[in-house]
Amino acid sequence: MKAVIVPSFGGAEVLRVVDRPEPRPGPGQALIRVEAAGVGYVDVMARDGHYQPLSEPGFVPGTEAAGTVVAVGEGVEEHWIGRRVFALADSGAYAEYVVADARGLVRLPESVSAADAVALGVNALVAALGLKRAAVEEGERVLVRGAGGGIGLMAAQLAARSGGTVTAITSSPERGERLRDLGVAHVHDRTAGEDGSADTYDVIVDPVAGPDLGRYIEMLRPNGRYVLCGAAGGAPEAAALGSLLTTYHSSPTLVAFSLRSVAPEAAGAAAASLFAQAAAGALRPVIDEQIPLTEARRAHERLESTPVFGKLVLTPHP
Ligand SMILES: NC(=O)c1ccc[n+]([C@@H]2O[C@H](COP(=O)([O-])OP(=O)(O)OC[C@H]3O[C@@H](n4cnc5c(N)ncnc54)[C@H](OP(=O)(O)O)[C@@H]3O)[C@@H](O)[C@H]2O)c1
Repeated sequence: MKAVIVPSFGGAEVLRVVDRPEPRPGPGQALIRVEAAGVGYVDVMARDGHYQPLSEPGFVPGTEAAGTVVAVGEGVEEHWIGRRVFALADSGAYAEYVVADARGLVRLPESVSAADAVALGVNALVAALGLKRAAVEEGERVLVRGAGGGIGLMAAQLAARSGGTVTAITSSPERGERLRDLGVAHVHDRTAGEDGSADTYDVIVDPVAGPDLGRYIEMLRPNGRYVLCGAAGGAPEAAALGSLLTTYHSSPTLVAFSLRSVAPEAAGAAAASLFAQAAAGALRPVIDEQIPLTEARRAHERLESTPVFGKLVLTPHP
């Protein structure tokens, strides 16, 4: 099969397309013919050598795939064979075939394409499970940082669907307009110096962190909940957490959320619910571009150089 490998850590130019044997499903695993693989920031970190679980080069990147199950390993029910599914993998999705833990397989509704599934994928899971911990109530004010990014786009939609009044921080008027189309009520353009600090919020979803984390924690209203779920703006300074003490008397809650802490069955159940919402038209997958697998290098270059709006999706069998 064709697969993309990281032969040594470095920039997008290290990615190589190679021929290698199809993987075989071990006990508890399924072999999936990949129709769509998600390109995420985590793949860039892995390629650079900054993702702890993939600490040795030579691996096939990619942690989310959708396609058809073609074989199963010992202990996995055969009824999965022939089914269209979404799956999370430790790595290996940038390939024509990938093996994944069968406990997390999610059947795709008819109307959800493989590309739609990975466009929702990890981003929607992080947004949904992170927001679940914040329990948004009708009429609450929700701020989403990095709203034009993968996680932000999903968090903004889901928070609006939960009845929240959503304010988005993004980086251009065009991105702001597209966010309004997805249900956002207010937009601030950070490149114009707007940071949302004119208001206060019941819930803040933050996949950005960076040097401004403390300032955003201070924008919480009494009993506010802060969901920290990424660091697209860089690691925050430890001093940022001092803001929790400054605002102590308004009882702020800081939730740090990583999908890696979620059991495969729970992630699968959450993904099934998200796909059902998409099938019902209540959640929109947003795809920036579908790119042939053999152009994985270009996908990484795009992710790192131009702002994308929605998911970059690799297609091994275009
Ligand atoms: N918690 C988890 O389990 C989990 C899972 C996957 C990924 N992550 C992490 O979550 C983070 C975001 O992932 P993503 O896929 O949403 O990334 P993404 O698609 O690149 O989106 C990040 C967004 O943040 C904004 N942004 C980027 N740099 C910024 C800066 N310096 N200051 C302010 N805003 C900035 C941009 O949005 P605008 O242009 O709209 O401003 C950008 O689109 C990454 O650190 C990733 O590693 C976490």
